[in-house]
Amino acid sequence: MEVCRIHIVAFLVTLYLSCFCAAHGWGIDGHLITCRLAQTRLSKSAANAVSELLPAYADDDLASLCSWADRVKFRYHWSSPLHYIDTPDNLCTYQYNRDCKDEDGVQDRCVAGAINNYTNQLLTYGTTASQYNLTEALLFLSHFIGDIHQPLHVGFTSDRGGNTIDVHWYTRKSVLHHVWDDNIIETAEERFYDSNVDELINALDKNITTVWANQAKAWAACSNTACPDIYASEGIKAACEWAYKGVDEGSVLEGKFMHVLLIDAY
Ligand code: ADE
Ligand code: ZN
Ligand code: ZN
Repeated sequence: MEVCRIHIVAFLVTLYLSCFCAAHGWGIDGHLITCRLAQTRLSKSAANAVSELLPAYADDDLASLCSWADRVKFRYHWSSPLHYIDTPDNLCTYQYNRDCKDEDGVQDRCVAGAINNYTNQLLTYGTTASQYNLTEALLFLSHFIGDIHQPLHVGFTSDRGGNTIDVHWYTRKSVLHHVWDDNIIETAEERFYDSNVDELINALDKNITTVWANQAKAWAACSNTACPDIYASEGIKAACEWAYKGVDEGSVLEGKFMHVLLIDAY
C-alpha cells in the first residue's frame, strides 16, 4: 500500500505542477486532469486498490470523482478548511505548526494535515476491518493533492488566498483566486487545445515522459509517508512570485501566466 500511496500522491502532484490545462478549470478540469494522469501511472496493486475502492458508478474512472470533495463541502461542513492553508500576509513562507490550523486555531485542519490524515487512513487498506471509509479517503486525498498545488490554496490570510481580490481576466470580471482555479486553465484549453481536455491531457502525458522526465522524478520524490509540506512551501512561493505579484484590486490580468505555464507543453 505504501507503493500505491506514493504513486497516487506523486502523480497527482506531478500533474498539477504541469497542469495548465483547460475546459472548466482547476475547479473541475484541474482535478479531472490530475486524476486522469495519475490513474494511468498507478502500480498494479495501487490500481487494484483504487478500482476496489471506487463506487461502481464511477466505472473505474477516478477522475470522474475528483471534484467530489468540493461537492460535499456543504454536507460535510467540517471539511471546508481542509482545502487550503492560510499563511501570514506577505511572509511568503509556510510552516506546518504555525499555519496548519483552521480559523478557530484547531491544529492539523488544513490541506497539508488532511493529506497526511487520508494517506495514513489509506495505509490501512488491506488490513482487517479498517475503521475508516477508505472510498472517501481516496476521493479526499486525490482532490487535496490537486488543491495544494494551486498556488493560492496556500495563500495569505487577510485576502483568503486571493478570494477577496476583484480583478479582470482580460475583459471579464473575476476574482484572483478564481483566475488561478479556473480562468487560466479554461483559456489555455480554448486557445491551445481546441477546447478539448483530452488533448491537453495527452500533451501533458507526453511531456511527463519526455522533456519533463527528470523533473517528474524530482516531483515524485518523497521520503516520508506523505510530503505535503514540500508542496505547500512551493505553493506559497509560487503564489508570491506569480499569482500575487503586481496584482491589486481591479488589476487586469491576461495570459502571460498561461504562456509561461504552457510553453513546455509543445
Ligand atoms: N478560504 C480561505 N482561504 C482560502 C484559500 N487560501 N483558498 C481557498 N479558500 C480559502
Ligand atoms: Zn478543493
Ligand atoms: Zn480554489
